[in-house]
Amino acid sequence: MERSWRTIIEPFKVKAVEPLGFTTRSQRQAILKKAGYNLFNVSADQVLIDLLTDSGTSAMSSEQWACLMRGDESYAGARSFFRFERVVRELTGYRHVLPVHQGRAAERILLGVLGGKGKVFLSNSHFDTTRANVEATGARAVDLPAPGALDFAKSAPFKGDIDLRALESELRSVGAKNVPMVIMTATNNSLGGQPVSMRNLREASAICRRRGVPLILDAARFAENAYLIKQREPGFSRRSAADIAREMFSLAQGCMMSAKKDALVNIGGFLALNDDEWVRRARELLILGEGFPTYGGLAGRDLEAMARGLEEVLDERYLAYRLRSVQYLGEGLRRHGVPIVEPPGGHAVYVDAKRFLPQIPPAGFPAQALVCELYLTAGLRAVEIGSLMFGRGRGAGFVPARMELVRLALPRRVYTQSHVDFVIEVFEDIAERAASLRPLRLVEAPAALRHFTARLAPAGRA
Ligand code: F0G
Repeated sequence: MERSWRTIIEPFKVKAVEPLGFTTRSQRQAILKKAGYNLFNVSADQVLIDLLTDSGTSAMSSEQWACLMRGDESYAGARSFFRFERVVRELTGYRHVLPVHQGRAAERILLGVLGGKGKVFLSNSHFDTTRANVEATGARAVDLPAPGALDFAKSAPFKGDIDLRALESELRSVGAKNVPMVIMTATNNSLGGQPVSMRNLREASAICRRRGVPLILDAARFAENAYLIKQREPGFSRRSAADIAREMFSLAQGCMMSAKKDALVNIGGFLALNDDEWVRRARELLILGEGFPTYGGLAGRDLEAMARGLEEVLDERYLAYRLRSVQYLGEGLRRHGVPIVEPPGGHAVYVDAKRFLPQIPPAGFPAQALVCELYLTAGLRAVEIGSLMFGRGRGAGFVPARMELVRLALPRRVYTQSHVDFVIEVFEDIAERAASLRPLRLVEAPAALRHFTARLAPAGRA
């Protein structure tokens, strides 16, 4: 028998390196002030470890870089498209494959075909761009997270599930004919990167079939979800991640994919569907906004790299390392008493700033205060998912978000265990003086998607 080891090593060696952005504390102080205490306004060269997102930030493999030379850049019918189409068909089982430049383009096209006033979309949780694209058509987006999904302190294996009872009752009250599709986001990024169980997916699929409503996967992190099923769901430990992923796709009638996550590329996405009529209309929108259907806003080399990435991501050595790294970060934070969304997600650890900084009320943006402190202390960049992102209004009209979280998203194959150890050490330092962190106030903010461009300042100062 092969012996099993405690340490899960990065299953790759490094061929090209990039320097990290070292700065001094006094530089960071000035940078923060100039950036209006908003890390979206800080240039990446001034960031030491960038945990802003796992989207489009993956390191490609040497094989993927080699794919760039193999790309066929023909306008129509490129060889690279047919290779890409074959890989997506084999993985998903869906007949039609439409490449797009990124996930939200797939959303805009599919929701453009199916949305409209009076329609209601149901989901375990719509990601923000999905919700925005639903609402842009005049339709409504309703989230039906599993009971307990918002109880961040309590650990459960599949907090990404949809609430099946709520799904039944919404379908009954809204009327199935007004629900163009049910969207299962796997993993559920909006609520802690938590996975959806196969059991939940099977049952949701059966409910949808009985009601004649299509089920569509938002498959951005399908491989992480599949591997978490393998690790956590009874009956799956002996099945391969690829096999589990194929079953997940088989329970839906199509998928929207942001390839910037689990296809291990820096740009790309696709729509894969079975319904001929949807595809006919989607193609029209694709040509209008993205490009000819065999390239969809991408270069031939991007299609090659995506095809290769979709194969590499299902390598179980990679997935074991990937999920272990996120878990390891979670364990480190927990050790220093930092409250996190339990359990750690597939792509990120989410710190619960409401509990970590109880002295800062939601109106003082506790999660953003922590984001700024992480940067000031050591040049780390994370993202706020709280009242800056989802709250509304200001002053007396302020309406807080349901949560005050800081997401530490791990780019794929980019950082090593020592980088993660460093992040844990920074949290150890901040945890010792958490009570001294102070609130922020909004100085300037647009009405929509304000977190990208808002400017803030320490409360009580000009
Ligand atoms: N669906 C999910 C679940 C996502 O997390 C994202 C993007 C999208 C769709 C949209 O894809 O960015 O390629 O247009 N999430 C990124 C993030 C932005 O940081 O979580 P896109």
